[in-house]
Amino acid sequence: MTRWNARAYDSSFGYVSPQGAPLVDLLDPQPGEHVLDLGCGTGVLTAEIAARGARVLGIDGSTAMIEKALAQYPGIDFIIGDGHDFSVVQAYDAVFSNAALHWMSRDPRTVIANVREALRPGGRFVAEMGGAGNCAELTAALSTAWREYGLREPELPWYFPTPAEHSRLLEEEGFVVRLLENFDRPTPLDECPGGAADWVRMYAGSLLEGLPADLADALLRRVNELAAPALRRETGWMADYVRLRFAAVRR
Ligand SMILES: C[S@@+](CC[C@H](N)C(=O)[O-])C[C@H]1O[C@@H](n2cnc3c(N)ncnc32)[C@H](O)[C@@H]1O
Repeated sequence: MTRWNARAYDSSFGYVSPQGAPLVDLLDPQPGEHVLDLGCGTGVLTAEIAARGARVLGIDGSTAMIEKALAQYPGIDFIIGDGHDFSVVQAYDAVFSNAALHWMSRDPRTVIANVREALRPGGRFVAEMGGAGNCAELTAALSTAWREYGLREPELPWYFPTPAEHSRLLEEEGFVVRLLENFDRPTPLDECPGGAADWVRMYAGSLLEGLPADLADALLRRVNELAAPALRRETGWMADYVRLRFAAVRR
């Protein structure tokens, strides 16, 4: 699993949680409801859900993220857990997830089945994740740079499904899909003076593991050159995000 730097996540990549605020509106948590936030990170949106009166449990696979969440929101429950093999004792009214499901790429079907098991019948699953074509320019630049340096093309750690693929999985695992949106969200990388290279270090740092530092630097310089025509604007770098947002109900 990618090693997350919780401090850098909130300071440099703090756009992720604010962009999730409309998703909390879609969830529409009610006072007293039990909600689980899967892949909660540092807990910013978990706290937003709690502020609306719901009782929330945040689950995340990263110890650093959970430690930070516990430190900044001492009144909220957070536990370390993997989307592929978590289980909960009580039945939840809703499972929420922002910008996390595409990281649970080892076996998305199992993740969805675990979410179903965590919900009461009629409980809702409201989430946003990367969709097919997400970061296509960024990942094409990565693959080309790796190839040019004679390295095996990197295995990317994400699951970016098409709307059809993902609805089929949800339906096969016992959900009725009530809403599914697939849209482009060009995202300014305001905090990335180093451009695409900074993004790679944060989100795909595992691809650099084991490489000599000078080779990693050269690869990232090349990623920037290759990605710049599509992603660098006069005002700064822009990531080519594509999002899949859905609300489904457990049958
Ligand atoms: C981009 S962050 C999003 C965090 C938070 N939901 C937000 O909106 O700010 C993705 C999170 O997914 C978590 N994650 C990745 N793989 C996971 C897995 N298999 N199980 C649980 N959490 C996982 C990471 O640790 C990280 O905190």
